Amino acid sequence: MRTLLQRTILDKEPNLYPIWLMRQAGRYMPEYMAIKNASKGFLDMALTPSKAAEITLQPIKAFDMDAAIIFSDILIIPYALGQGLDYNPAPVLGRFDPKLFDTDMETFLNKCEPVYEAIRQTRKELDASKSLIGFVGAPWTLYRYMTGNNKPGTMDPFASRDHIQHLVRYCVKHLAGQIEAGCDTVQVFDSWAGDLSEDFIIDYCFDPTAQIVSEIKTRYPDVGVIAFPRLIGREIKNFTAWCDPYVDCVSLSGDVPTKYLYKHLGSVCLQGGLDPDSIIKFDKVKILNELVPLLDRMKDMAYVFNLNHGIDRHTDTNSVRFLVETIKRYRNNLG
Ligand code: CP3
Repeated sequence: MRTLLQRTILDKEPNLYPIWLMRQAGRYMPEYMAIKNASKGFLDMALTPSKAAEITLQPIKAFDMDAAIIFSDILIIPYALGQGLDYNPAPVLGRFDPKLFDTDMETFLNKCEPVYEAIRQTRKELDASKSLIGFVGAPWTLYRYMTGNNKPGTMDPFASRDHIQHLVRYCVKHLAGQIEAGCDTVQVFDSWAGDLSEDFIIDYCFDPTAQIVSEIKTRYPDVGVIAFPRLIGREIKNFTAWCDPYVDCVSLSGDVPTKYLYKHLGSVCLQGGLDPDSIIKFDKVKILNELVPLLDRMKDMAYVFNLNHGIDRHTDTNSVRFLVETIKRYRNNLG
C-alpha cells in the first residue's frame, strides 16, 4: 500500500495534498523541550535511537502529519567522518582537514548506525499509512559547514571539486543506509545553494545532486526523491532539467512565483510554498489568507504541502494544528 506522499510524488496523483513540515520536530513543541531538558545536548538526542524515534513521532502524535522525518541532522555526515561537532544551538564544527575524506566506509557507517536504528524503531511505531522520510545535506551545503567558507570563488578549484566528489559518495551511502532501515522517501537539503553564482552552480549543486539522486533512484526505484535547492531563483528550472528523471519532487523556497513554476517545471511534483512566518502567531485569518490561495494554485497538480523552510522555533502549536486541520478539510472537500 502506498502512502499519500508516495502516491503524490511517485504516481503524480493530484489533489491529495499530503502534509509534513520541515523541522516539524523541534523547539516550538513542549514535548520536544521536555526531552531536550532531560538530555545532554543535541547529539545525545539524535544519536540515542529511542530518543530520536520518540522525537520523530511527536509531531505525528500531536498534529497527525502524513509523514514523519527522522530526527537527525545534516551534520551527522561530518560527525561520522570524524570532524568535531557541537551545537549551541547553532552548529560548531571542529577544524576542517581533507584527511576526513580518507574515512573508510565501514567506520563511517558504524558512526551513522544509531540513525538507522532510530529509523527501524520509528517504522515499527509509525502507522503504515504514513511515510518515513530520510535525508542528507547536499555536498555543497555540507562542505560550506565543514570548511566555514561560503565563497566558492576563494576555494582551490581542484581540491574543492575533489572534496565535493567524496561527499557525493558518503551522501549516497548514508541515504542507502536510511532506506535499508525503512525510509520510503528521502530529501536532499541544499540549504545554501543560493550562495552559488552561475559560475559554480553546475559543479557544486546540480551535478553532485544529480549523481546522488541517480544512484539512489537506480538502486531504489520505489523510493520517492525530493530535492531542496534552496533560494536558487529561476535556476530551479535548470536544476530540475539537470536532475530529470531522478528527482520526483522539488521543494520550493518562496523566491519564485508558483505560477511561473508549474508552467516551467514540467511533470515534476512540487512541495512547499508557505512562508513559515505566516504561522508563527495563531491568527486564523492571516493563515487562511496565505494558505487557501496557495492550495487553490496547486489544484490538479501533484503537490505536497510544506513550508518554504524550517518551522520557526517561536511558532504557536495552535497554528500548526489549525494548518493541518484546514488542509485536511480542503482536500476532503475535493474528494
Ligand atoms: O525536519 C525535522 O524535523 C528533522 C530534523 C532536522 C533537523 N535538522 C533537526 C535540528 C532536519 C531535517 C535538519 C536539517 C538541517 N540541519 C539543515 C537543512 C534544513 C535547513 O534548515 O536549511 C541545516 C542547514 C542543518 C544544520 C543545523 N542544525 C542548524 C543550522 C541548526 C541550528 C538551527 C537552530 O534552529 O537554531 C541545527 C540544529 C538543529 N537541527 C535543531 C533541530 C531540531 C535545533 C536543536 C535544538 O536546539 O533543540
